[in-house]
Amino acid sequence: MRFDLTEEQQAIQARARAFADDEVAPLAREADERGEFPLHLVKRMGSLGFLAGPIAASYGGSGMDYLSFALVYEELGRADSSVRGFLAVHAGLVSLCIRDWGTEEQKQHYLPRLASGEWIGCYCLTEPNAGSDAASMETSAREEEDSFVLNGEKIWITNGNIADVAIVFATRDASARHRGICAFLVDTSSAGFRREAMPGKELGHRAADHAKIVFEECRVPKSALLGAPGEGFKIAMSALDHGRLGVAAGAVGVAQACLDASIAFTKQRRQFGQRIADFQMVQATLADMAADVDAARLLVHRAAWLKQEGRPTTRETSIAKLFATEAAVKAASEAVLLHGGRGYSNEFPVERYYRDIKGLQIYEGTSHIQRIVIARQLVGKGE
Ligand code: CAA
Repeated sequence: MRFDLTEEQQAIQARARAFADDEVAPLAREADERGEFPLHLVKRMGSLGFLAGPIAASYGGSGMDYLSFALVYEELGRADSSVRGFLAVHAGLVSLCIRDWGTEEQKQHYLPRLASGEWIGCYCLTEPNAGSDAASMETSAREEEDSFVLNGEKIWITNGNIADVAIVFATRDASARHRGICAFLVDTSSAGFRREAMPGKELGHRAADHAKIVFEECRVPKSALLGAPGEGFKIAMSALDHGRLGVAAGAVGVAQACLDASIAFTKQRRQFGQRIADFQMVQATLADMAADVDAARLLVHRAAWLKQEGRPTTRETSIAKLFATEAAVKAASEAVLLHGGRGYSNEFPVERYYRDIKGLQIYEGTSHIQRIVIARQLVGKGE
């Protein structure tokens, strides 16, 4: 078993790190304060080959392996979870989902535009009454001769206000639960597609775009179906297997950022006549954080490697997301504590990491849902 990265992987990591340090991190505090997504970074990520990392070159992608793509997510996560979150949705939930389930015509139409950043994608699953229980969705798809007509409401849709294309999940028969669900590729300029910002101010990810989307007699042609009718739930879950890996890798980045910030701060901060890094209690915290970062990263790399091998990854991806996000929540909490009063204001970025990381623990399946996914593979699903 080899743990070192190949030369190619190292080169992609270096490119992502330089971009994160030079172009993403310097904007993060202001973007967070203004609550505005730095949109110009989208095309820049396209030109760097990040928007469609693992997509084949024939569809405008970079053809990188999944471990390389996890390294990109980690580096972006270290700098700004709002930007990394954009990518996990745009690439993980949308482009890879179209690649896996689309017809050749759909792939040719969408993938190159999503790869360059000409178009932005969003993924519409969550509803007011269907969060963790995604199969209970109420958004309906009424079948007519040559089209489907969508009615319903989606919430917490990342990139929803800036997206050009949305993967929309809707049911043609709610009584059939998950077997009634269909997936559609919907142009966001379609008549009957209305969107607005989510109400309230988010705890974290304040630079990310989150929308409420309402469908009112939104008519889409039958050619907009992604996959077969009734396959929508599987499509949604398989997309989440891609997206959750991006969230897990992003959480490793946040935890690493907390560790780096804590080391730098505790080495220069002096109290009781010495560096606070010399106190054993502080050292124990740093050591635990470092152990967690290593373990989380290894779990992410294992899931990415399995994906590359074409093997099942649902369980391993959920383990990686569960462990990495929980570890990063702990690391962020400890990092704020180690910074003392300074950690409590946005003078230091640990305050933002602490707010942002709660999002990673919730979206693309809460920690409870990841535990359900893992446990079902251990004991099966109850009646
Ligand atoms: N890949 C492919 N198929 C899968 C799958 C996967 N990973 N997981 C389940 N399936 C299939 C099952 O095999 C089953 O198929 P059959 O009918 O052929 O047997 C079918 O899907 C139903 O599976 P379950 O019985 O397990 O379904 P369930 O209703 O019990 O739900 C769940 C399972 C894991 C709890 C699921 O509902 C879930 O993941 N919930 C969380 C949803 C979530 O993550 N939401 C976040 C949305 S995205 C977001 O955060 C916003 C954003 O903008 C990013």
